[in-house]
Amino acid sequence: MLPRLEADPMHMTTMAPPKLIDWTDQLSVGVPSIDSQHRKLIDLINDLHAAMAAGRGAELLGKTFKGLVHYTLSHFAYEEQLMRQTAFPGLEAHRAEHTRLVDTVQKLQQDWRSGKVAISMEMLWFLKDWVGGHIVGMDKKYGPHVTAAGAR
Ligand SMILES: [Fe+2]
Ligand SMILES: [Fe+2]
Repeated sequence: MLPRLEADPMHMTTMAPPKLIDWTDQLSVGVPSIDSQHRKLIDLINDLHAAMAAGRGAELLGKTFKGLVHYTLSHFAYEEQLMRQTAFPGLEAHRAEHTRLVDTVQKLQQDWRSGKVAISMEMLWFLKDWVGGHIVGMDKKYGPHVTAAGAR
């Protein structure tokens, strides 16, 4: 679980920057449990953006990054279980894409930890496209199938 940024007095006195990603109905896959997980993922990327924009230290950035990676893993596991339970035919292709995305974000995290890359707008735009592109390009495909099978 990510520490609440609001609990930090520095954060409360700092003007929050505009959110990097806003939730829109275009991102809805039509499954409430999944939509709320996607909103949380977007919140985590926005938190990372806010922490970077406020010039927060490596420790907080590291925790925020770690929270994003952990939540991504548990969200992907949830989706895969849902697709498995409802015998979604695109499961294997979807799982391969999840593996690729996890590898990419973990590599980014490692590169940041070892000082090879900074948490920059370039990285944040990448994360934004990464999440938005996957939701729109892949997650939306299982929406009608799992909904028809009774998933909420
Ligand atoms: Fe997803
Ligand atoms: Fe997915």
